[in-house]
Amino acid sequence: MENLESLARESVEAVNQAADADSLERLRVLYLGKKGLVTEQLKLISTLDPEKRRSFGQAVNALKQELTETIRSRGENLAGQAIEARLEAERIDVTLPGRHATSGSWHPISRTIARMEDIFASLGFDSAEGPEIEDDFYNFEALNIPADHPARAMHDTFYVDDKSVLRTHTSPVQVRYMLEHKPPLQVIAPGRVYRCDSDMTHTPMFHQVEGLAVGEGITFGHLRGVLSYFLREFFETDLKVKFRPSYFPFTEPSAEVDISCVFCGGPGCRVCKHTGWIEILGCGMVHPEVFRHVGVDYEKYTGYAFGMGVERLTLLRYGVDDLRLFFDNDVSFLAQFQ
Ligand code: PHE
Repeated sequence: MENLESLARESVEAVNQAADADSLERLRVLYLGKKGLVTEQLKLISTLDPEKRRSFGQAVNALKQELTETIRSRGENLAGQAIEARLEAERIDVTLPGRHATSGSWHPISRTIARMEDIFASLGFDSAEGPEIEDDFYNFEALNIPADHPARAMHDTFYVDDKSVLRTHTSPVQVRYMLEHKPPLQVIAPGRVYRCDSDMTHTPMFHQVEGLAVGEGITFGHLRGVLSYFLREFFETDLKVKFRPSYFPFTEPSAEVDISCVFCGGPGCRVCKHTGWIEILGCGMVHPEVFRHVGVDYEKYTGYAFGMGVERLTLLRYGVDDLRLFFDNDVSFLAQFQ
């Protein structure tokens, strides 16, 4: 009976001090397992004299019950503590300000190109791209600008080597397109172009969209109609369009196109240098010499071509007054085009 009392004290205390579920389980096995200390006492009962058996039996069974109950409640306690600890560790302060996710936006130049592609697509124009390092043949020769032609001086070319240049316009894409497609065809060529020129209004790299239409019976009237429609759609105003005679080696006749000033509408302002007009693009009827270079029958087909600078169109459309803003990539500028 004395052994039993100390076993009871010792086991209940041990269980109450179990630090976690694992040590509690070890204690259960130690006392109540098949060969546990309390189980051993239970086995003793049958070996005792009948008069001792009753009281000893009651005491052992009482201990077994007490210990079982103590283990159960200690287990509950430990489980509760574990949850508390986890809640504490994973605590979230819902009053903290959220993390702000900023989203990017299209660069105004890309946005303008996409807009131009949309308008020309609605008129049935395909869109084509070509290499930025271009053979002399596609950039000049096929466009009726032979090596000794004075027009080469106009282009301020970056030469890569004897035979290749950084393209000075996207006209070579049209040459490539005509070599791959039979007329009738309508295509625009957006992309980067390079000229060795840098000041307030020129950057060594800029973007162009050039266009070409080839078919039977195409006239200057079609060119006028398409460009006037495009410019009014692009600027979303009923502006005036003026064609002035000009010169390009690859078109004949050639013209430059002015639009009535999109800022003052005519009377004159700083942007139009008080003329009421803004020069916006070059164009003309494709020179037979160009057709000859790409194997288009110039007795049968005619075509028109045009080319314009994307930066200039973007400046005018959004009222941006400094070309350099397009190249600085200052987020506070770009974010205005979201
Ligand atoms: N290729 C010319 C340029 O870069 C623009 C142009 C294209 C002019 C087509 C007339 C016809 O300046």
